[in-house]
Amino acid sequence: MMRQAGRYLPEYREIRREVDFLTLCKTPDLAAEVTLQPVDILGVDAAIIFADILLPLEAMGAELRFEKGDGPVFPRPVRRREDLAGLSRPDVESTLGYVFEALRVTRDRLAGRVPLIGFAGTPWTLAAYLVEGGTSKQFTHLLAWSYRDPAGLGELLERIADVTIEYLARQVDAGAQALQFFDTWGGLLDAERWRRIAMPSLVRAMEGVREHAPDVPLIYYVNGGGHLLEATRELPVDCLSVDWRQPLSAVRQGVGAGKALQGNLDPASLLGPIEEIERRTERMIRQGLGGGHVANLGHGIFKETDPEHARAFINAVKELSPGILQAG
Ligand code: CP3
Repeated sequence: MMRQAGRYLPEYREIRREVDFLTLCKTPDLAAEVTLQPVDILGVDAAIIFADILLPLEAMGAELRFEKGDGPVFPRPVRRREDLAGLSRPDVESTLGYVFEALRVTRDRLAGRVPLIGFAGTPWTLAAYLVEGGTSKQFTHLLAWSYRDPAGLGELLERIADVTIEYLARQVDAGAQALQFFDTWGGLLDAERWRRIAMPSLVRAMEGVREHAPDVPLIYYVNGGGHLLEATRELPVDCLSVDWRQPLSAVRQGVGAGKALQGNLDPASLLGPIEEIERRTERMIRQGLGGGHVANLGHGIFKETDPEHARAFINAVKELSPGILQAG
């Protein structure tokens, strides 16, 4: 599940009473503990390392805060070419070493029970937060820059891509067995602009990681990117992670069996009755037939979700999929 370790779990909130979010990310022993919670409590088939997509931007010199209620904040946003001077090419080992240590500790504690997934944001999505100074409704600063000075914004995307390659390569060295790219804001762009602005640095990052770790499966998630499928299906990844807005069967038709699909239960459905969760999970599994399918949510789990409903989803996948796969 996306954000499977998090605020919907009382066991997570218990730890968060003592430490703030960034401290939790930066304390490998605690990050490993939180990573393992959904494995132990819900029985998911993979662990995803507890971290955040924004950490590499902090490593590049952008001050980052998580403020209660506001989500992430960059007090000194990067909005024009001159601002790039404030960013550095970090030494990834010394600035993000806590993530690698958390991966090593987690792999050790998992002892082979389930695989461990590493992740990063895409250059476009990381730039979205850095340029806006946090989350945004309209992304006016980002979009203005993309029209005013696409080459300057392109330089920012390339710099983020360089750091991402090294960051993900080191994650693999530390024990990550699959890698997911999160493109939360890719859907802001139309298909032609996505290809021109967001895709080049993304492909470069993916190819750079592939070069270092040719056998590690790569997953790409884009939110609100149904209109981008003709482009995203060309990405050098093994698996496309699909949001809840598109029927999985339509995506399968567009992608074929050459790539696995991941997704895509509406995370809001976990707020509804368990029978409805089961009904929708069954439909999702049927729609995923015709190629590899990783059952998942279509975006992050809501913090209001009852863990019993998350468990109902996991159990439904485990109970229903063998029969459907056999029949299908
Ligand atoms: O279990 C997991 O999935 C691994 C951990 C993980 C987190 N964030 C922990 C987290 C992962 C994979 C992410 C990715 C992430 N972070 C994304 C991409 C996925 C998506 O949701 O689209 C984005 C956009 C971020 C940036 C981010 N981090 C935001 C916007 C917020 C605030 C969210 C909110 O509702 O306030 C965060 C904080 C965050 N990252 C939390 C967690 C568990 C909540 C922090 C807390 O404990 O208060």
